[in-house]
Amino acid sequence: MNTPIYDYLNNLIDDDISRLYMPGHKGNHPYDYIRDMSKYDITEMTGADSLYEPDGIILQSEENTAALYGAGHTSFSAGGSTLCIQTMLSLVASPKDTVIVARNAHMAFINACALLEITPYWVKPNYNDNFGVSGEVTVKSIENAIKAMPNAKAVYITSPDYLGCMSDVLSIAKVCKKYNKPLVVDNAHGAHLKFTQTDCHPITLGATICCDSAHKTLPVFTGGAYLHVSNDSKITKHEVKTKMSLFGSTSPSYLILMSLDLNNKYLFESAKADFAKLQDTVKQLYEIAHEKGFEPISPNRDLTKLTLDAYKVGMTGEELAVHLREHKVECEYASTRHVVLMLSPQNSKLDIDRIKSAIAKITKKEPIVNKDISFELPQAIMSVRQAVFSKKELISIDNAVGKVSAETKIKCPPGVPIIIAGEVIDTYAQKLLKKSSIFLINVVK
Ligand SMILES: Cc1ncc(COP(=O)(O)O)c(C=O)c1O
Repeated sequence: MNTPIYDYLNNLIDDDISRLYMPGHKGNHPYDYIRDMSKYDITEMTGADSLYEPDGIILQSEENTAALYGAGHTSFSAGGSTLCIQTMLSLVASPKDTVIVARNAHMAFINACALLEITPYWVKPNYNDNFGVSGEVTVKSIENAIKAMPNAKAVYITSPDYLGCMSDVLSIAKVCKKYNKPLVVDNAHGAHLKFTQTDCHPITLGATICCDSAHKTLPVFTGGAYLHVSNDSKITKHEVKTKMSLFGSTSPSYLILMSLDLNNKYLFESAKADFAKLQDTVKQLYEIAHEKGFEPISPNRDLTKLTLDAYKVGMTGEELAVHLREHKVECEYASTRHVVLMLSPQNSKLDIDRIKSAIAKITKKEPIVNKDISFELPQAIMSVRQAVFSKKELISIDNAVGKVSAETKIKCPPGVPIIIAGEVIDTYAQKLLKKSSIFLINVVK
């Protein structure tokens, strides 16, 4: 697999041309620590192609990625999945349109709704009492939503979610095709899913368009992401680029683009074998964890993530995170109840041994009985955009019942936004906010 961006940058360094262009460090950073790295950090100059109008090295590299993922076309983002989500929404909907969306959506989606004046029609993901999470969104609930909102422009789901729960993308894609709705998937946590033992990447499973935060699970610098469009879709690459340029910086980082380029080589040469090995390692870790009373969070889950329900061993998620830290393991995330360990083939044997040893040293106590409150959708009386851009005041949660929230509060569990800008705070939401240690909120004045 060729690496046109990386090769171009190396040639540029070898050519030793005087840099009378941006950035200010001129490839000769004043501090040693990043001087070598700064040589690769250039701007969109002649020969270096242009991210939003590519016809050279960036286009070649993006085409390599599209071929690896079996996508119709792929565009790079140096602004993470956040930029891809803004782009995807603007491709499938216009201001004042409605999009059907599973309520475990990330803040980036809700912010994009505010920017683009899109109205979400929420679908509740299934609540799993045993694990106190809301992850999977069912085919039935999507079909019911399409029937209730036949004019909705698209269906938007998040899979995998932060805890690693996945939805049945294949069946949801079939339903979307039946009703002629594009299926948009936030696959921020699933860039590697093309390369696991079973290919369960959303593009393979029938999504119209999806974003992958390559930086979250693959060896890519923070901010590097993909926007894939399926072969079946009429959305052109030109449309993607035009829409992405509405939101993205005109100075994309070549360090990020270079790492996306080199990632193609990694995906082509090593990813399949590496991820097969990683899945075996995570399986082993689950076996060790099972002896302590932990169980996998869902049968349909990302098999490279280790998500531990601390309640099963009589601890809170925060306590378990402290225990892991004492054994030199820092988790990705700890909630009141869960701890998420994100593993990748780049983790060393030492990392894995530390996890094993930390789990083995847990002193199991009486499991904590689930006191999580399942989730009810509050009533929206204002659009996300109206509420976000309204005059607001910061008040105590104690006085918030009946007020319209001017911001979005997300806490996990239950893994869904508790209140979204434009929704009326009811006693239910008030209880959940307090339970999530949120005591102040901006409301519409
Ligand atoms: C589900 C989900 N979607 C989107 C994003 C945004 O991705 P990025 O940080 O690549 O912009 C995140 C970030 O954590 C996420 O968890």
